[in-house]
Amino acid sequence: QAQLAGKDFLTLLDYSKEELLYLLKSAIEIKAKHKQGIVYQPLKGKVLGLIFEKSSTRTRVSFEAGIYQLGGTGLFLSSKDIQLGRGEPISDTAKVLSSYLDGIMIRTFAQSDVEELAENATIPVINGLTDLYHPCQVLADLQTIEEAKGKLAGLKIAYIGDGNNMAHSLMIGAAKMGMHFSTAAPAGYLPDESIVAKAKKIAEGTEITITTDPVKAIKDADVIYTDVWASMGQESEQKEREKLFANYQVNANLVQHAKADYLFMHCLPAHRGEEVTADIIDGDHSVVFQEAENRLHAQKALMVALMG
Ligand code: CP
Ligand code: NVA
Repeated sequence: QAQLAGKDFLTLLDYSKEELLYLLKSAIEIKAKHKQGIVYQPLKGKVLGLIFEKSSTRTRVSFEAGIYQLGGTGLFLSSKDIQLGRGEPISDTAKVLSSYLDGIMIRTFAQSDVEELAENATIPVINGLTDLYHPCQVLADLQTIEEAKGKLAGLKIAYIGDGNNMAHSLMIGAAKMGMHFSTAAPAGYLPDESIVAKAKKIAEGTEITITTDPVKAIKDADVIYTDVWASMGQESEQKEREKLFANYQVNANLVQHAKADYLFMHCLPAHRGEEVTADIIDGDHSVVFQEAENRLHAQKALMVALMG
């Protein structure tokens, strides 16, 4: 923990396997305390600012509830209401907020904005989703897989759908944990090649498969993951993407190629009838609500490690 104190959480690339395993272990312990009703307040008096330039249900509520449960306070800062939204420089915002707060979580469009905020802040900055990455989600996802399967290394995770922020963070998280990762999307919508190259460099003895064939990607998967076809900021492409991704729906036909005991995961919000059918997301293999719950526990572990 001492080594993580004061560190930013901008991308999983900046964390070693050991650091991620430490956070997962801590998340599982914090969850157990929470379930037993044990009061655990190592962040008494600490204040986390939460800057949102995009909508959120899970991220906002789990961070706000989480910091409160840890003894601190969260401040919701809509970019519409703070001067950042009127053009105040990110660097000035970072310096000013650093003098009031103990940590900043930011959800925005450009990863470079989050990096600029972190470079100019003297307090930990947490990436709550950008167009490129969603690392907090993957902490909760890894916790969920560990809880359900009792292990991570050696499992195969298949991500079917848009090569977006989720695909990128999941691929890096899987590579770090020694999981096989495969993904399928239409040509032109596969993950960013430079991020694939980075994940391949991390992966030791595990396979990373990038294909346009959903059956090949899902073959013998232990975990099936999908996300919306049009992310926040891509609303105008919705109709076009629905056509392009039609063959990439996670449905009863496709999942029969996975392992019989596959887990179904989705970061939510989901669109039933688009990227996944209702029978799958609401079926016996789905762990989507456990996954959403784990956002709370995983981020509490993260806040304690960085802000404690
Ligand atoms: N999965 C996730 O980040 O959800 P929200 O957009 O509701 O925060
Ligand atoms: N890819 C989605 C994830 C939402 C949690 C988006 O960026 O909108």
